[in-house]
Order: sequence, then C-alpha cells, then structure tokens
Amino acid sequence: MSAATRLRKVVIRHGRVSDLAAVMEIERASFPTPWSDAAMRRELECQENSYVLVAEVGDRPVGYVVTWVYSGEAHVLNVAVAPDERGQGLGELLMLSAIEEAISRRCRQVVLEYRVSNLAAANLYRKLGFVPAGLRPRYYLDTGEDAIFAILDKLQTPATRRFLSERRDAWQKEHDWTVSYE
Ligand SMILES: CC(C)(COP(=O)(O)OP(=O)(O)OC[C@H]1O[C@@H](n2cnc3c(N)ncnc32)[C@H](O)[C@@H]1OP(=O)(O)O)[C@@H](O)C(=O)NCCC(=O)NCCS
Repeated sequence: MSAATRLRKVVIRHGRVSDLAAVMEIERASFPTPWSDAAMRRELECQENSYVLVAEVGDRPVGYVVTWVYSGEAHVLNVAVAPDERGQGLGELLMLSAIEEAISRRCRQVVLEYRVSNLAAANLYRKLGFVPAGLRPRYYLDTGEDAIFAILDKLQTPATRRFLSERRDAWQKEHDWTVSYE
C-alpha cells in the first residue's frame, strides 16, 4: 500500500440531491443499462423506506449503495464505485455500512441480485457472508442474463453481528483508509 493511500480519508454519509451528477457519472461508467437521472434523484431525495450511502474522497463522491427496506428486509438495489477508485476496499466499506444500517433499522436479512458474469460482485458479496439462494432466469432485460439471488440472513443474531464486526476489523487492517461517518 502506498503512502498516498495510507493518508487518504473517506467519509461515509447519506446521499443528497446535490450528489446526483457525480453519482450518475459513476452509474453510467458502471452499468450497461444505467438508472435514469429521475430514478436516482428519487433515491437521493431521502425516502422513508430507502437509504443511499455515499463514499466521499476529497469532496468527490466515489461510490454509493442504494438500499430499500420493507417488511424487515433490506434489498440492496445498486452499488458501484468509480472505476479509478476500485480495488481499494471502498465497495466493501459501502456494503458493510449498508448492512450495519439495515441492522440498526431492525431488518432480519439483506438480499440482492447480481449478474452471473459479475465476478467482482460475487466475490464481494461472498466475502460479506451472502449465500446464493437461487437463480432468476433472464432477470436483466438488456442482455437477457440470469441473476443470482443472494441472502445474508439472521442479521440480528450474535453470530452474524460478530462475523460482521470481525469483517470490519479485518477490512481496517487490510486497507488503512481513515474512515469517518456523517
Ligand atoms: C463490485 C464493485 C462495487 C466492487 O467495488 P471495489 O471498491 O472495487 O471492491 P473492493 O476493493 O472493496 O473489493 C472487495 C472484494 O470484492 C471482490 N472484488 C472486487 N473487485 C474484484 C475484481 N475485479 N475481481 C474479482 N473480485 C473482486 C474481492 O473479493 C475483494 O476482496 P479482496 O480485495 O480481499 O480480494 C465495483 O467493482 C463496481 O463498481 N463494479 C461495477 C458496478 C457493479 O458491478 N456493481 C455490483 C452490481 S450487483
């Protein structure tokens, strides 16, 4: 890890409408069929049953995760990191933070889908304890690709909370970012 990386600071905070342009730039660089500006704006407008967390480095949003909450279940709908900031732990930090917020919102489980071909996502979610629970055939309308549906359940149990706390400690040892929360 370089000295420059060691000195870097990242802020995790809730997204706001003023993040829209930066978030959409990452969105368009990350997905073959990006969300529309209007859809992302709705998420950033502080919805009651959803939350957006943004990772900010030097005043620039460099990643985000969008989660919906209903019936005690948190559904991660979207997570992305700017291409030039990938591979440095920010995706994992965002996911850990989204899971921790789901715990504080008393959710029982976190669910998500990812493309069968998305190795980075598969590895990231497995590292965080998600277990593949099914296949959704031709889930992605743009390419007709299948989705894997995965679950991190028993969120409120001591075992899961201990696992996540150990994962966070390990993350800090592996990465050396200085993290603050707003
Ligand atoms: C998936 C994504 C959010 C990961 O963000 P990131 O900041 O690069 O990920 P991290 O550096 O935190 O990596 C965490 C773990 O993810 C996995 N991972 C990340 N990038 C990977 C890659 N290119 N290949 C394989 N595994 C990868 C690894 O398990 C990694 O842990 P490790 O460093 O101990 O090997 C990022 O690649 C991205 O924005 N992709 C485009 C959008 C997308 O596919 N989102 C997911 C939709 S389901």
